[in-house]
Amino acid sequence: MTLAEHVAAGAARLGVSGLPAPEVGADAAVLARHVLGWNREAYLCRLREPAPAAFANRYAAVLDRRARREPVATIVGQREFRGLVLEVNPTVLTPRPETELLVDETLRLAAGRNGDVRRIVDAGTGSGCLAIALANELPAARIIATDISAAALAVAQRNAVRHGVGERIAWVRTSWLDGVAGAPDVIVANPPYVRDGDLAGLPPEVRGFEPRLALAGGPDGLDSIRTLLRAAAERLSAGGHLVMEAGAGQMAAVRAAAGRHPRLAVTRIRRDLQGIERAVVLQRMPAMGGP
Ligand SMILES: C[S@@+](CC[C@H](N)C(=O)[O-])C[C@H]1O[C@@H](n2cnc3c(N)ncnc32)[C@H](O)[C@@H]1O
Repeated sequence: MTLAEHVAAGAARLGVSGLPAPEVGADAAVLARHVLGWNREAYLCRLREPAPAAFANRYAAVLDRRARREPVATIVGQREFRGLVLEVNPTVLTPRPETELLVDETLRLAAGRNGDVRRIVDAGTGSGCLAIALANELPAARIIATDISAAALAVAQRNAVRHGVGERIAWVRTSWLDGVAGAPDVIVANPPYVRDGDLAGLPPEVRGFEPRLALAGGPDGLDSIRTLLRAAAERLSAGGHLVMEAGAGQMAAVRAAAGRHPRLAVTRIRRDLQGIERAVVLQRMPAMGGP
């Protein structure tokens, strides 16, 4: 059997197991490349060749996992974020493309301050995607990455070392900014924001393979967001910013929650590629007559 025939059969197998039709072809191909250890070019060139020995058994094993709705990212053990290949496993949220907006916004703030963003806290770092992308792009910044999950911090640290920025980031196991000294210029955060009542309705890939700690946002989804708004109001340097992700349909509630902090002002909201208001930037205004 040729590789192409194996992959077509794999896609059909995923289709009958109930995976959404648009995904099965791409998933079958990515999983085949993972088993082969080949890059895209080698894979495309050799599709008409007979599959190598041992391919069929190993391919069947990964197709089984995908048919049980394990995400492709955790099967292959990695996901790309802003061009950085990051290790992922079920102890961390798989980085999402829309979260790249938080990097864009932080870089925009840094550019507006002529690069003078010295202290950044990535609160709830997960895989480390935000801290690592920012360490790469802002060589003068000192970055502190926090998470309450020791397992997540271990993954994030491995990712940082892999990308040569392990020494540039301080890792702190804590709740958000608790015990983190100093006044950050930017707090960047993608907090858990799924309403508790919505958790059971999440896709099986998310519900079954991503940590609840990374998803559950309390009864209205805003528990962590409120905590971060409070931390921003109290802890940011004067004129500093909170750059934060929120869930679909939550931005009005985020604005209302921010409104309870007289020194916080929403300065910008960014929509993702689906047109959903996804990232919010808030500034801690200097107090009258001092910071
Ligand atoms: C939605 S995930 C985001 C991970 C990563 N920043 C990203 O964007 O892919 C939220 C992260 O917050 C962490 N977290 C949850 N509660 C926390 C808390 N009280 N303090 C610090 N981190 C927390 C979770 O462990 C998880 O890694």
